[in-house]
Amino acid sequence: MAHTPQQIPYTTSNSGIPVESDEHSLTVGSDGPILLQDHYLIEKMAQFNRERVPERVVHAKGSGAYGIFEVTNDVSQFTKADLFQPGKRTEMLARFSTVAGEQGSPDTWRDPRGFALKFYTEHGNYDMVGNNTPIFFVRDPQKFQDFIRSQKRRPDNGLRDNDMQWDFWTLSPESAHMVTWLMGDRGIPKTYRNMNGYSSHTYMWVNGGGERFWIKYHFKTDQGIDFLTQEEADHLAGEDPDIHRRDLFHAIERGEHPSWTAYVQVMPFDDAPDYRFNPFDLTKVWPHGDYPLIEVGRMTLNKNPEDYFVHIEQAAFEPSNMVPGIGPSPDKMLLGRLFSYPDTHRYRIGPNYAQLPPNRPHSQVRSYAKDGPMRYEPARTGAPYAPNSYGGPDADTDRFGDIAGWRTAGEMVREASELRREDDDFGQAGTMVRQVLDDAARDRLVSNVSGHLKNGVSRPVLDRALQYWRQVDKKLGDRIAHNVNGG
Ligand code: NDP
Ligand code: HEM
Repeated sequence: MAHTPQQIPYTTSNSGIPVESDEHSLTVGSDGPILLQDHYLIEKMAQFNRERVPERVVHAKGSGAYGIFEVTNDVSQFTKADLFQPGKRTEMLARFSTVAGEQGSPDTWRDPRGFALKFYTEHGNYDMVGNNTPIFFVRDPQKFQDFIRSQKRRPDNGLRDNDMQWDFWTLSPESAHMVTWLMGDRGIPKTYRNMNGYSSHTYMWVNGGGERFWIKYHFKTDQGIDFLTQEEADHLAGEDPDIHRRDLFHAIERGEHPSWTAYVQVMPFDDAPDYRFNPFDLTKVWPHGDYPLIEVGRMTLNKNPEDYFVHIEQAAFEPSNMVPGIGPSPDKMLLGRLFSYPDTHRYRIGPNYAQLPPNRPHSQVRSYAKDGPMRYEPARTGAPYAPNSYGGPDADTDRFGDIAGWRTAGEMVREASELRREDDDFGQAGTMVRQVLDDAARDRLVSNVSGHLKNGVSRPVLDRALQYWRQVDKKLGDRIAHNVNGG
């Protein structure tokens, strides 16, 4: 709405004081020196110098929106979590991202996409911090940092380097399933609206009777899966590097609210020890034939952030945010992640990050945490310690005292988990190549891998890469070798 001159609101300093001019510094005469008492000019310069927080060490480039999660099927036999109870509607925030690129990097680089969800439940925030892939490159958190460094920039020249990527992948054969997935069509989604999200990890669900289940989440796009070819993506990286951010924002603005149908695979607790694959290995899926998808609900994104920095850049997702009825699993990667995220938020945003608008629970917070930089929510605990005699909150152990856990014992070791009957690094990747992809998708996979390998990968890494692909699928590997060796 246009303002008449009288209605235009006046500019103020950060302290709300009307300012004298938006354009002219305070000087001695129109050509004279600037005066130190121009507090507004100094405030503007100082604030500008502090506008950035560090970008996320991974998943730096992203986009997000608010929405609603509605339960469409009764899964209360598997979990007591309030957001999954019949008829429930829960407000939520989603952030999608690329992994290796920086804030300004193109949206269309080949990379997994982050699929991070924050549900504002009655019992605090529940964060499902997944990817658009049901699997991952490594299965031990000890290897995550090295993996990421191999995908980011070299220390000497600041360049990304395919040789480094294939060196790490081929020395880490557990990556084969994920690399096959990445080099296929789904490695570059057409838009964020056209991709699925997966928890990837196995989690625990606990029902009202204390019964435990192992579960995996699948959020399937209602817009349909779609992808970009390598050529289309390369072109768009120059023409519109922010295309996925633009697409999500404008679709929501137009009222085309993207939605995803949520499913879970549920494994009875006692199936885990004898399952043919290690059900907690992040490099493996549970085949649908073994554990079919059960519908849970629908998430719809219907509200753009009012301010990108406040709501999306400062959003702090953390897999450790689990609410009653949901727990972790023995997946070592997940257990590592439970530490990493709150730690990085304290560094990136500050120790009181949980008080910021996207992170503030919609339920009441009655924590004994206090003080620290930028704290503005008063502590509402009566006394700053527990237990106390002044009416402070008491943990309700009767209602919330159950630990979503499992029995464990053993010697302390540094060892890989024991292999199950069908556990190997290449099996499920081969199944994907032979049984899931059609001829055209296999041709694109061969072309994508060959193109990548021909771009700066040197021997002996190249020889290992060809061997790696032959182990995924002999025919596929031979075709790649033929392309790469120019035969
Ligand atoms: P299914 O035939 O039941 O499932 C195959 C699944 O593959 C589809 O449902 C689809 O997942 C996904 N898919 C289709 N095209 C592609 C593609 N180009 N790139 C990546 N994924 C694709 O078989 P299984 O469950 O027995 O799994 C067989 C293989 O499929 C696995 O080894 C794995 O590589 C892959 N896969 C399995 C998933 C699972 O959770 N079981 C999930 C995704 C892939 P969606 O329906 O989720 O879109
Ligand atoms: C972001 C660590 C594995 C999904 C991040 C961040 C860190 C991190 C430090 C930056 C967070 C921030 O600054 O806000 C790790 C570690 C891992 C791991 C240590 C393994 C041990 C995974 C896996 C997935 C995943 C397996 C998916 C299943 C994400 C997503 C984000 C993210 C989606 C972006 C969240 C957002 O949108 O703000 N990770 N990660 N990560 N990670 Fe991981």
